[in-house]
Amino acid sequence: MNATQEKLKDRVEQAIVAAFGADFAGVDPILVPASNPKFGDYQANVALSLSKKKGLQPRVIAGAIVEKLDVSEICEPPEIAGPGFINLKLKTAYLEAQLNAIQADPRLGVPAAKTPNREIVDFSSPNIAKEMHVGHLRSTIIGDAIARILEFQGHNVLRLNHVGDWGTQFGMLIAYLQEVYPDALTTANALDIGDLVSFYRKAKLRFDADEAFQETARQEVVRLQAGAEDTLHAWKLLCEQSRREFQIIYELLDIKLIERGESFYNPLLSGVVEDLDKSGLLVENQGAKCVFLEGFTNREGEPLPLIVQKSDGGYNYATTDLASLRYRIQQDEAKRIIYVTDAGQGNHFAQFFQVARKAGWIPDDVELVHVPFGLVLGEDGKKFKTRSGDTVRLRDLLDEAVSRAHADLKTRLQEEERQENEEFINEVARVVGISAVKYADLSQNRTSNYIFSYDKMLDFKGNTAPYMLYAYARIQGISRKGDINFKELGNNAVLLEHETELALAKYLLQLDEFISSVEQELLPNRLCEYLFELSKKFNQFYDRNQGVQVLEAEEPQRTSRLVLCDLTARTLKLGLSLLGIQVLERM
Ligand code: ARG
Repeated sequence: MNATQEKLKDRVEQAIVAAFGADFAGVDPILVPASNPKFGDYQANVALSLSKKKGLQPRVIAGAIVEKLDVSEICEPPEIAGPGFINLKLKTAYLEAQLNAIQADPRLGVPAAKTPNREIVDFSSPNIAKEMHVGHLRSTIIGDAIARILEFQGHNVLRLNHVGDWGTQFGMLIAYLQEVYPDALTTANALDIGDLVSFYRKAKLRFDADEAFQETARQEVVRLQAGAEDTLHAWKLLCEQSRREFQIIYELLDIKLIERGESFYNPLLSGVVEDLDKSGLLVENQGAKCVFLEGFTNREGEPLPLIVQKSDGGYNYATTDLASLRYRIQQDEAKRIIYVTDAGQGNHFAQFFQVARKAGWIPDDVELVHVPFGLVLGEDGKKFKTRSGDTVRLRDLLDEAVSRAHADLKTRLQEEERQENEEFINEVARVVGISAVKYADLSQNRTSNYIFSYDKMLDFKGNTAPYMLYAYARIQGISRKGDINFKELGNNAVLLEHETELALAKYLLQLDEFISSVEQELLPNRLCEYLFELSKKFNQFYDRNQGVQVLEAEEPQRTSRLVLCDLTARTLKLGLSLLGIQVLERM
């Protein structure tokens, strides 16, 4: 709900009380955007529900409310329509004043949250020595957008990378490292073991083929857990190598994250199991320590436990998550913890959330949210793969998007007979390519699967990054052409006459609604929808046939329209920046 809607809602509430008495305080006026712009901007539908209570015709109720309703500085005189809807049409002068106010506001009228929250966004979180795959790309892009929006709202956000940097696979990797790089365990220098993923594959082959090697690997796990220096050193080398790989992706995508991997919580794991035991939740089952869950059953329909310590004493992914959850609540003082992972982990989160709740570890004012997302599919509708059937390396994927954007740009320059230098071309290609990938992901409802298509995401038409970037650059083009400094346009200049001006103006004032909806529902695609619709409204306003003249217009219209241009550009820039997308002044 935006500020205007909120204000109107208050006024209707007051009018209801004035008409029917204090008993009716708190009755929801059911104030919603008008179903048809013909009837105005908003409508209050409360008369229909009140009519039963009061035993009066809805139109009579509506009449009594309207009589007491004072919205004269915001709306035209309210009208009653149909069975008893109260229609409200915003006054042009009111809209003009609102736009004049946001012109001077760097936040463009979006209020910061009234109570800043400590929020944790757990996102990206790839696994050491394994490929960062498209699932991690989604988590990275969606998590970053959510974090940016919460930060903009003034929340105190901790961006955590819960890297998978612990587990039995390290025994195998370390044993293999020892074999192929015997110096590795003693060298002080960073080690370049090349492609870690193929290293992992080779280690696995070795592991599967040789029992003696398996034994060595197991001993390495024990040594690692006991903190043996040389083994720990090898583990660090492996982590560092992966970290360098991940960092390349984070830099390409402009992502900031604090790494706090699974290993960070190692010292806390035994405490988790002890405390579960103390609260009487722990059950031993074939040597494993588990907690029984409600609502989860195995294939045979038997109750399913969550294992927190295996029979060999080892801990699980879930144990680490329980430990990290406690740490985040106690030490980080988080009030909302948001986990961004693929939908396939839905059960994992539901289960350990349940265990933590049963154990009484979640205070009432702390909210735990799993933010799931769907799969990335290839154009054939199957799992996204390279032509040869391998998993796609993220670096290759991003490079490909940039190089396609590069080629498209070259063609466009030729067609337009434009000359640009290499630096410009590379920068535009980089921004367009990366934005296209991010936007294609964010513009989908994250819960559904989506088809990864370079052609679609790089298209200048449709709900794409290039479309949005182009709308922004086009507006900057107006300022260049007219030699206008948008920052120096006069204040109080907005004058709304034309239908397309009014439509654009009203939409510009709705940004806060969309941002607060993302803040609550954690669906960044809502913001994409807004920006797409805004660009369309701008294009209608600027359209030679249906729209208005801008640079060629007479004053005072000219300045007013330039302010609308500037506000549109600033809204696009702000909105895109909240999605992690950079704009271009020219493209
Ligand atoms: N490393 C996990 C994966 O690659 C994601 C971790 C998500 N965060 C968490 N606290 N479990 O699937």
